[in-house]
Amino acid sequence: MGLLIKNGTIVSSESQQRLDVLVEGETIARVAAGIAADEHTVVDAHGLLVMPGGIDVHTHLDMPCGGTPSADEYTTGTMAAAVGGTTTVIDFALQNQSGTLKEALGIWLGKSNGKACVDFSLHMAVTNLHGEAGQDTLREMDDMVAAGITSFKLFMAYPGVLMINDELMFRVMERAAKLNALCCIHAENGSAIDVVVAEMIAAGKTAPHFHALSRDPKAEAEATHRSIALADMAGAAVYIVHLSNEYALAELKHMQARGARALAETCTQYLVLSIEDQMPGKSWDEARYVFTPPLREKRHQDPLWAALNDGSLSVVSTDHCPFTTEQKALGKGDFRKIPNGGPGIENRLQLLWHFGVNAGRITPERFVELCCTAPARIFGMAQKGVIAPGKDADLLLWDPAADYTISAATQCMATDYSMFEGWRVKGNAKHVFSRGRQVVADGKFIGEAGHGRFVKREANAGGLL
Ligand code: URP
Ligand code: ZN
Ligand code: ZN
Repeated sequence: MGLLIKNGTIVSSESQQRLDVLVEGETIARVAAGIAADEHTVVDAHGLLVMPGGIDVHTHLDMPCGGTPSADEYTTGTMAAAVGGTTTVIDFALQNQSGTLKEALGIWLGKSNGKACVDFSLHMAVTNLHGEAGQDTLREMDDMVAAGITSFKLFMAYPGVLMINDELMFRVMERAAKLNALCCIHAENGSAIDVVVAEMIAAGKTAPHFHALSRDPKAEAEATHRSIALADMAGAAVYIVHLSNEYALAELKHMQARGARALAETCTQYLVLSIEDQMPGKSWDEARYVFTPPLREKRHQDPLWAALNDGSLSVVSTDHCPFTTEQKALGKGDFRKIPNGGPGIENRLQLLWHFGVNAGRITPERFVELCCTAPARIFGMAQKGVIAPGKDADLLLWDPAADYTISAATQCMATDYSMFEGWRVKGNAKHVFSRGRQVVADGKFIGEAGHGRFVKREANAGGLL
């Protein structure tokens, strides 16, 4: 006796087909036309699109920033993910610069233990190397891969806290190449940015929007180029996270054309918000828009959308890193002290569907590729991202006709505001299944904390040939 999803249209990254899906236990047993109801529990998906559950590969749950933890811990964060149609998240464990990777892993497994409502995995951020020529930490990378953590984040920004210099970055890349692991890069020239930041503070430019003005798109472009060039030298594959502007995109494309093994994501906010939203005189508290990289001028959006279609950008994630208004107020009078990050895990699919598919910018198939299938392939999760026999029954039943108004009053995310307050979108998650268990019914969360499991990932260097 299984769970039968009948009469829906399955959307894959390649096609749309009227097929039924039979789930037995945690996995998909059959995908075929006209599967008999027999004694199965039937979910009528008439009028709905059946897609693989969304995968958000860039989240920061319960992450300390500026002395305060991000507002969503693993339970509220993954609950919000589920309601938004996302059934797997990849969060970041951060090495303390004086500590080990093992310690960082222990801390993040502790934060997530028994708390996740959907499946999750971790990237490991390497922020320093210890031992002779970094060997102690580099050896720990092998242990991480053995534990299923097959991607390493390197920050080229946030000097003194998370930033790693070029020598150490190159050593990590060489090790990653040997391990077939993927290097995820926060690409911004942190040293140059910090000079500009100091100049602004000295000139009394302390309001929140100066955070954005201090982080030139060219600082992102420079670091994008440098990291890809270094990875190419080291023989490693790289994945640029939160690519936000057309100059960085041009560097990515240039290096891809030269054969570098480089992939990149952008995030929802860079596609639909712009720096104009953050300028003084807007009704919202500007600090709510303080995240890194910052919002860019609107003219950068069209090139990003085009890159989602031409394949130079492979994934849309959120960089979900939420802070409440009270937490953001820690930076009142000094933008350097505003905790960096914004809430978005719940709205990724709504926004990409509305402004992408409904607006004719991407097809439904490309939507599935960017939000579900490519994230699974690139990050070594063979059991996810595709609707096929033997795969995890992570299923999203999407109502393309649903009208939905985004609001902090109704969201699951723990922030007291939404960056998209009052926006009306068409298309929303109706029912969501995580490994065969229904976690969202008619848009309401019905799952439980502890259902979500840690996903051990394969080292496949980003699924690149
Ligand atoms: O502002 C952001 N994005 N905060 C999270 C950390 C990062 O840089 O991804
Ligand atoms: Zn980052
Ligand atoms: Zn991030």
